[in-house]
Amino acid sequence: MQVHVVDHPLVAHKLTVLREATTDSPTFRRLTEELVTLLAYEATREVRVEPADITTPVAPTKGVRLTSPAPLVVPILRAGLGMLEGMQRLLPTAEVGFLGMIRNEETLKAETYAERLPEDLSGRQCYLLDPMLATGGTLAMAIDFLVRRGIDHITAITLLAAPEGVRRLEKELEHVDVPVTIVTAALDERLDENGYIVPGLGDAGDRLYG
Ligand code: PRP
Repeated sequence: MQVHVVDHPLVAHKLTVLREATTDSPTFRRLTEELVTLLAYEATREVRVEPADITTPVAPTKGVRLTSPAPLVVPILRAGLGMLEGMQRLLPTAEVGFLGMIRNEETLKAETYAERLPEDLSGRQCYLLDPMLATGGTLAMAIDFLVRRGIDHITAITLLAAPEGVRRLEKELEHVDVPVTIVTAALDERLDENGYIVPGLGDAGDRLYG
């Protein structure tokens, strides 16, 4: 598993405003979308393309096109939904599937409550969207689920990641022989006793959707 922390002044600036407790929901939603578009630029470095012959108004030339079937984008509900539009701006032809997962706030264990994905996922490339990688339980379960269904290349885009969650993912994905990359705007200090990322940005789902 690879972890890529996007080091860019615009990302850092937008993330700073996002973190602030006084930032209201409409601004939080807009900034989340903008941040995801910036992160998606980095996250799609390995998106699959194939050669294409085209003709410009001047001359024939060679280019590339996204391979078919298009990549699959999977926001993890609820908070991941706030990242979808920012991702679609960059990958408008992507197919979208949904995973509904919630972390039990007492046990900190993730539970799946909804799933709407294409039937055949074999050989597909997938972008998972979830703003927070805290204990890592949610992403570990989502990745395991997608790999079992045949996905063979996964990039998870998060706004924040905690070192504890990254370590857990590394351990739990040891047996997974599908390439997994985490692209995040920041790797924070730690988790607190309630499983919240510190300094973090609070509860992303609540800040997006109340
Ligand atoms: C949050 C967050 C992640 C998960 C991260 O979702 O959006 O999905 O917790 O925690 P973990 O890494 O410890 O598993 P939450 O369960 O609050 O649901 P929500 O998106 O519906 O608010």
